[in-house]
Amino acid sequence: MTEDQTTTTYDIELIPGDGIGPEVVDVALPLFRDVAHDYGFEFDITRRDWGTEYYLEHGEMMPEDGLSQLADADSIFLGAVGHPEVPDHVTLHGLLLPIRKGLDQYVCKRPNVLFEGIESPLKGYGAGDIDFVVYRENTEGEYADVGGREHRGLNHETAIQSALFTRQGTERIVRAAFQAAAEREGHLTSITKSNAQAHSMVFWDDIVEAVSEEYPDVTVERLLVDAASMDLIRRPHEFDVLVASNLFGDILTDIGAQITGSMGLAPSGNIHPGDEHPSMFEPVHGSAPDIVGEGVANPLASVLSWSMLLEDVGEVTAADALWSAVTDQLADQSAPRSPDLGGDAGTEAVIEDLRSRL
Ligand code: NAD
Ligand code: IPM
Ligand code: MN
Repeated sequence: MTEDQTTTTYDIELIPGDGIGPEVVDVALPLFRDVAHDYGFEFDITRRDWGTEYYLEHGEMMPEDGLSQLADADSIFLGAVGHPEVPDHVTLHGLLLPIRKGLDQYVCKRPNVLFEGIESPLKGYGAGDIDFVVYRENTEGEYADVGGREHRGLNHETAIQSALFTRQGTERIVRAAFQAAAEREGHLTSITKSNAQAHSMVFWDDIVEAVSEEYPDVTVERLLVDAASMDLIRRPHEFDVLVASNLFGDILTDIGAQITGSMGLAPSGNIHPGDEHPSMFEPVHGSAPDIVGEGVANPLASVLSWSMLLEDVGEVTAADALWSAVTDQLADQSAPRSPDLGGDAGTEAVIEDLRSRL
């Protein structure tokens, strides 16, 4: 962040990525610059053309020193990664996952809100009835790169994929979730599979119990991940903050996106809470190859993620303004809507309408 007498400038690293990533990022960029201007700050945006096209040309998803190119930014914004022509484990392990891990963005924060004007597939749920946030561990757990394949091609070929749960890694995400619950409704749900995974998940439970002593006013509920999947459909109104391992948090946030209307509305922050590394914001959705190039991707998940970015760098008023513009638009039945929300408007029309509300 640089500051002269009048204007604060935020250095933003922008990685539009693959598929609909560039579609939802590019259309909205001028809008974000205008918001910055209106609220008395600026973005200095460095665009990185990293992703699968880059891979097909250079044999890697980002340059070898990619992480250090990002390291000094005030924040990072990413569109999506994933391409039908290259296996997902190559693309995701070449770009998105190394950033989350390498920049120690250990809190994956994913709000799930049923906005006014949005129809949930769940019967009887209206505006505000669903409002919870998932705190997903983002650097280890089931996503640890621990394992390998042996005896390739032989009858006794073997694959091992180990999950890694460290005390520090578990404690810090659990503590972040307790803190969030203390600042919200005071209710935390810890998601595990302790009945089957008696090592890592019981370890997780023990840590939840220990940290809970620091937060006597937060009520703690424990749910097994299968039951949680059921209860997010059956009684989503009862959740406030959920804390989960990397894989469980991934799965539950797709459910969260659907019950609150669409993947096209779900924002996400990969947050490094300290000052040592920048955080990264991105929609929950992927590159959506089934709609790429049609100009109909819903840009609102991306806009809400920019709002989270603004809040994270401290521009809370601008963040609120952007978030409110989205909620106003959704509440207005005559506003343009993308097809995932039952409308026929394209990405650009949605952004143009948003501009008129800011
Ligand atoms: P996806 O999120 O890309 O798409 C799932 C469904 O939701 C599709 O029908 C898609 O059209 C729809 N959808 C998603 N975003 C939308 C939007 N903004 N507007 C309207 N509709 C939207 O998930 P997928 O199909 O499982 O994965 C596609 C690729 O993306 C894969 O390569 C996957 O690995 C990758 N992926 C990347 C990320 C990421 O970059 N963070 C997240 C999830 C999946
Ligand atoms: C997400 C995505 C990623 C994840 C994939 C693409 C590796 O599904 O951000 O939710 O599992 O974290
Ligand atoms: Mn996911």
